[in-house]
Amino acid sequence: MKASQPHTLHLSSRVESVQVSPTVATAARATLLRTMGRDILDFSVGEPDQGTPERIKRAAAEAMDHGETRYVPSLGIPALRKAVADRYLTDDGVRFDPTEVAVTLGGKQAYALACEAVLNEGDEVVIPTPYWPTFSEAARILGAVPVFAPLDGAKGFAFDPDLIMKKVRRKTRLLVINSPSNPTGAVVSEKALVEIARQLKAKAPDAFLLYDDTYSRMRFVENHPRMLARTREILGDQMMFAGTASKTYCMTGWRIGWLLAPRAVINGVSALISHQTQCAASFAQFGAVEALTGPQDYVAEIVAEYRLRRDIVVAELNEIAGVTCRVPAGAFYAFPDIRKLLNKAVPDALTFAARLLDEQGVAVVAGEGFGCPGFMRISFARSQDELRRGLAAIRRFVGSLHYDAHEGERGLPIIRKRAKARA
Ligand SMILES: Cc1ncc(COP(=O)(O)O)c(C=O)c1O
Repeated sequence: MKASQPHTLHLSSRVESVQVSPTVATAARATLLRTMGRDILDFSVGEPDQGTPERIKRAAAEAMDHGETRYVPSLGIPALRKAVADRYLTDDGVRFDPTEVAVTLGGKQAYALACEAVLNEGDEVVIPTPYWPTFSEAARILGAVPVFAPLDGAKGFAFDPDLIMKKVRRKTRLLVINSPSNPTGAVVSEKALVEIARQLKAKAPDAFLLYDDTYSRMRFVENHPRMLARTREILGDQMMFAGTASKTYCMTGWRIGWLLAPRAVINGVSALISHQTQCAASFAQFGAVEALTGPQDYVAEIVAEYRLRRDIVVAELNEIAGVTCRVPAGAFYAFPDIRKLLNKAVPDALTFAARLLDEQGVAVVAGEGFGCPGFMRISFARSQDELRRGLAAIRRFVGSLHYDAHEGERGLPIIRKRAKARA
């Protein structure tokens, strides 16, 4: 019998148009190298290094013991929807009824569902850049069009209303603000946010503003206390919030997030969830109730630790010739500018990150993944010891680049020789 011909599989154009998240791809490569026996320091994934607090785990285990192992309502258990609504009222003075809350599989699904609920093919989604890659890809999957609004690196990628609103027009259906920002750590000011809301209302009356506050508790500066309430007063039903238990409570694997939106959107989301995932895991939701309603001292402790780590990372990066790094005001990422290090041998941040991983076993994500070539993202949600070792390795690597650069044209053969030696 003849061997069958290889058959070309035809995939959907949607799937063909979307790429795996660069952070996930880098982490996967780091894991692969680790399984091959390499000692890898992974600063690629945005995930706290601490475990989930015991009391949260206990609450989920107790829920399971009490038989909470079955389907629950699509929009989430009432106790969690209420705990989320209460949280926004106490933290931000923003009032949502629990019926305007949908519990989702992490913040990622909260954003994806919001897009599915309000976007049609061809609709434009304005995304300030650098940006978290899911903001563009989840929109693209739906046939919507991401429109990037580049922020100014010289001003610390501040949320400048002029730069953002330049990209908003009548076709805009969604504007995304993520503060503190992944990857830059920039925090939006009250003045900027209110201005953005005013202009959005005037320029694109049908558009929604989606405020992603995934890192809202991981801030090293205070938000203006009435900032979000004032913005919502301007936008009314056209403001949505996407959030998550993942980072604040070290619950990345639990997959619990939330969307707060007007009831019409939440009803649509309910229908979508009912066909896609049915509901978020029941016992995980009980854990999240404990996370949100139990003692919060733990959060202050980890933020204090992140501040120490941030200061170590930023100071050490700025010590490296050719690297400049601003101090992030929130989240747990440093986003240094490495453009001065680029040369013929290392023409872009992608090559820099790939070589750093291969040669020094340090995983970082190249800025290209966030729409910002010439930068790289380092997660400092890692122990101080790992960070110190990682930064020493980065310094060694940069030293070797200076050597390559010095070698000029001969830099490339050096890289090839090294790659051959490693193979
Ligand atoms: C800006 C932003 N939004 C949302 C998320 C979603 O997190 P999760 O789906 O783990 O809750 C992340 C995770 O990295 C993020 O950085």
